[in-house]
Amino acid sequence: MGLLALLHIAQAALGLCPGTAGGQGDPHLYGAHGGHADFRGRDNTFFNVVSHQKMSANIKTKDGEFRLHGAIVNGSWMVELHLIAPTTAGPLFWTYDAARISPASLLGFSNGTCGGKPFKLTGSRMGNLLRNGPLQRKVCGDVVLQANHSSVKVFMLPYWAITVAPKATPDYFHRSDRISGPEAHHLPQRAAVRLDLLFTLLRPERSLDVAPHGLIGQTFDGSDVGVDGAVDPKPQRGERMTTMAMAEGSIEGVWQDYIMPSPFATSFKFSRYNVQVRSDVHLGLRDGLPRRGHR
Ligand SMILES: *[C@@H]1O[C@H](CO)[C@@H](O)[C@H](O)[C@H]1NC(C)=O
Ligand SMILES: *[C@@H]1O[C@H](CO)[C@@H](O)[C@H](O)[C@H]1NC(C)=O
Ligand SMILES: *[C@@H]1O[C@H](CO)[C@@H](O)[C@H](O)[C@H]1NC(C)=O
Repeated sequence: MGLLALLHIAQAALGLCPGTAGGQGDPHLYGAHGGHADFRGRDNTFFNVVSHQKMSANIKTKDGEFRLHGAIVNGSWMVELHLIAPTTAGPLFWTYDAARISPASLLGFSNGTCGGKPFKLTGSRMGNLLRNGPLQRKVCGDVVLQANHSSVKVFMLPYWAITVAPKATPDYFHRSDRISGPEAHHLPQRAAVRLDLLFTLLRPERSLDVAPHGLIGQTFDGSDVGVDGAVDPKPQRGERMTTMAMAEGSIEGVWQDYIMPSPFATSFKFSRYNVQVRSDVHLGLRDGLPRRGHR
């Protein structure tokens, strides 16, 4: 079996089929058409990941050190997601903050405001889980947030479904391999939580009047071509390595263009938030290694 076929199977297993893009791990970005890149970000800095007419999502990255394959890696993780959307019930502001999650239980917690009214989604209220079936649900106008014990899915019809899943760093079975970096607020222990993200576009890309942007959003570009960007080398046993890749080649402009001044800021060089006029896809502006998508 070819390497590409294997990769596609792996991507399918992760739910990373066409129409879906995301980020996971220390962060690896997966584009809607199969391209991938690593993105270190900068300690305690916000970046826009998806910007579209009625939705804008920022992440925060945080540096951390961990042991991997006998090496010590100075890398980073996504630790916060901040989502803003106008809804029929007023503006939605929603935050998933990994520091509020226990790495041992991974019970979810997120909070926000809907039309100015605060709400929480918490995976720890098992009573609620049992009463209401597997899901806890918050309806904010035409946006629905669904939580199970740890993950949250946000449905913003007709365009987007977003999944946020907390994961222990570097992973659940290697929590003791964490050396430094993000910490859970209430548990000053040698373990922490990162976030994995999936963005699913529910409409054909070519039917959109305004092409999405942001580090992840720009891969929904109406092409069949995934664009690979910079990735970090595999750490070698015994070495200390610092990740450096900033998704060069797979993003338009440079990584600094995506820095956001605050959690819910929406305006940046490539912002599509509230944009009404048709904006064409920007195929060809990313200069990384194009490869055939798997659609
Ligand atoms: C990790 O790398 C960053 C960026 O080079 C640096 O600022 C930081 O001090 C390093 N952390 C450790 C623990 O060496
Ligand atoms: C979530 O709760 C924290 C702490 O209570 C608060 O500071 C923050 O503003 C809330 N987030 C949102 C989006 O309302
Ligand atoms: C929670 O939701 C996520 C995302 O949809 C899913 O992958 C996971 O299996 C669910 N877990 C449970 C216990 O239902």
